[in-house]
Amino acid sequence: MFARACVVALGFVFTLCAAVWPQPAEIRTGSRVLWLDQAVDVALRCGSDGKLQEDAYTIHHGNNLRRLFGDIYHYAQGAADTFQSIFKDRDRDGHINFSESSIVKEAVTSTIKEIHGSKFVPWKLHKRNADFEPDSSAPQHYLSTLQIHQSKCPGSQALQPASFFAGDESHEVIIESNGTAVIKSNSSIGTIRGLQTLRQLFFAHSTSSQAYTPFVPLRIADHPKWPYRGLSIDIARNAFEPRDLLRTIDAMALAKMSRLHIHATDSQSWPIEIPSFPELARKGAYRPELVWSVASLRDIQMYGASRGVSVFVEIDIPGHTASIAHAFPNLIAAFNEKDWSTFAAEPLSGQLKLNDSNVDSFITILLHDLLPRTSPYTSLYHVGGDEVNLAAYLLDETVKSDSPEVLKPLLQNFIDHVVTTSISLGLQPIIWEELLLDWDLTMPTPDPSNPITQTLVQVWRDSARIEEVLQRGHRAIFGDHHYWYLDCGYGGFLDPYPGGKSPSGVPYNSSGGRPSKLHEPFLDYCAPYHNWRQMFTYNPLANISSDLHDGIEGGEVLMWSEQTDSQDLDSKLWPRVAAAAEVLWAGVREAWMLEDATKRLGEWRERVVVDLGIRASPVTMTWCLMEGGCNL
Ligand SMILES: *[C@@H]1O[C@H](CO)[C@@H](O)[C@H](O)[C@H]1NC(C)=O
Ligand SMILES: *[C@@H]1O[C@H](CO)[C@@H](O)[C@H](O)[C@H]1NC(C)=O
Ligand SMILES: *[C@@H]1O[C@H](CO)[C@@H](O)[C@H](O)[C@H]1NC(C)=O
Ligand SMILES: *[C@@H]1O[C@H](CO)[C@@H](O)[C@H](O)[C@H]1NC(C)=O
Ligand SMILES: *[C@@H]1O[C@H](CO)[C@@H](O)[C@H](O)[C@H]1NC(C)=O
Ligand SMILES: *[C@@H]1O[C@H](CO)[C@@H](O)[C@H](O)[C@H]1NC(C)=O
Repeated sequence: MFARACVVALGFVFTLCAAVWPQPAEIRTGSRVLWLDQAVDVALRCGSDGKLQEDAYTIHHGNNLRRLFGDIYHYAQGAADTFQSIFKDRDRDGHINFSESSIVKEAVTSTIKEIHGSKFVPWKLHKRNADFEPDSSAPQHYLSTLQIHQSKCPGSQALQPASFFAGDESHEVIIESNGTAVIKSNSSIGTIRGLQTLRQLFFAHSTSSQAYTPFVPLRIADHPKWPYRGLSIDIARNAFEPRDLLRTIDAMALAKMSRLHIHATDSQSWPIEIPSFPELARKGAYRPELVWSVASLRDIQMYGASRGVSVFVEIDIPGHTASIAHAFPNLIAAFNEKDWSTFAAEPLSGQLKLNDSNVDSFITILLHDLLPRTSPYTSLYHVGGDEVNLAAYLLDETVKSDSPEVLKPLLQNFIDHVVTTSISLGLQPIIWEELLLDWDLTMPTPDPSNPITQTLVQVWRDSARIEEVLQRGHRAIFGDHHYWYLDCGYGGFLDPYPGGKSPSGVPYNSSGGRPSKLHEPFLDYCAPYHNWRQMFTYNPLANISSDLHDGIEGGEVLMWSEQTDSQDLDSKLWPRVAAAAEVLWAGVREAWMLEDATKRLGEWRERVVVDLGIRASPVTMTWCLMEGGCNL
């Protein structure tokens, strides 16, 4: 195993090391400066020695070139077609030819454009008023050739998400002193990861309009620890807009994250358009303008796929579903009970009935509407299944019981329906841990020749639960809420009863009078706030016996949004999600790495603020980035 550390090639006086985030497995840098040429000759080579294919073209940097970043703004301003300008290859009907080869080509072009368009001058990473930039009036050496050597050719048929995202992400990035950059990979996604590294090697110059890299000659060889490097965003508790996720995908890509889990619906609102049931979103969203259209979901997924991020949806069922009642009241039991805490984990209560053929038909139509629309861009579907409330089924006239023995076979049927439908539509199911650990449900036996038949289990409680999932032979996704929940530590979102006690009829089955549980200082259940250093040093393998480690698919950080919306999303996600991304890419981090991480993450944060328009929180105070020595 290689130590993930910076090695500066011998013979150079100035020992600068590229602050790539997440940290590469191997990196060697020199200190020669190359400027990115106004015209870069690109050669995309693929295949093995016998039949090598090559596609060569030149990317020119001109003032008339709109940057991709500009395109996102275009989208944000409501001007429809984001992808018109990005994906030029269209078929006779005007549809985008969304294939691996179009993705790779677009990734190369947009990376060069983004480097040219960068405004990131890294003054905060140097001493006050230091003269750290290369002399732009001295004779310049240029990087004018980019060669991509991808051993397996990118297909030109429609994208196959399962094989695309399962591709070998390892890559090498080499920049020679003679002005040639080379990215070597074995797959399209490996090439995309290499380009994401390349982007971080360049800076803008404060007096020249050209970008430069000061790290030549350079060689980086890298590969991820886990394939599943996820972020979950709940878009139901508060409203978000498609542009929030597009911007988030840009930052995720720059941290080499690979999965965006959209927790799309919950009891409070149903913002996702389902054409088979137009009333669901029309009545269930907070407002009609806040509906995520079929086109916007597709665009987000496409945008994600083009950056190596698999964007998939969770329709959480059978719990967390009260918002369905606005359109279909007969499908929901215990809707909006005054004593909500008996029937749900948070207001309002309401759960899909468990023994009702109308619910089964609803689920069938819903899944056959939504899943085939997502499967061109992802191979995942999240089934949900957390926090199923027993008492709600006392009020469900199709069951009238809260007995686990009565409910378990019904829940098994219910989940079987969703899981087998997901697999039959080509999507690998993910379930919340409760279905396995609390309900002891069984999942379909996986077919070893078809990886998507393996149900993944997402664990949010603790490491004992991760170990139990693994012991039972399931593949696990970690994301312990004691470390990786982004909503913790902001205080609760509920109010105490005005009289200090519950009114009559609350709690359920009593005449009321229960003292309020809420007291100063009104902390939330998972306080304190998990700062980026805690997220960085979370060891998901701690307490898990090493013979089980192979069963881990990866992990996910989660943003539940009772107290988050478009306005503060960025500062709650970043830089903390990037801290987690390094654990997922480079493997378990330790406290002694924090000093170096502060510098590298500090640089990464400046880059996303300046170049992606992300309103990330600072990593530390500027003085510490400039001077170092902020240790205790
Ligand atoms: C779209 O893909 C097909 C292969 O499925 C290819 O033959 C065709 O040339 C592509 N069209 C465009 C416009 O690139
Ligand atoms: C590609 O695959 C080969 C053979 O498995 C492996 O040696 C190499 O490390 C992989 N990655 C790159 C970037 O070449
Ligand atoms: C630069 O050097 C590399 C390796 O030495 C070589 O493959 C490449 O062709 C050279 N490029 C130019 C533009 O001379
Ligand atoms: C489920 O519903 C059927 C009728 O549709 C009924 O016969 C059966 O007893 C119900 N099961 C439970 C556990 O209530
Ligand atoms: C591992 O177990 C110890 C002892 O129970 C506990 O203090 C620690 O928080 C656990 N670590 C993780 C990452 O779960
Ligand atoms: C309400 O309380 C009574 C008496 O304690 C108990 O017998 C009954 O089962 C309770 N009902 C519910 C719905 O919890």
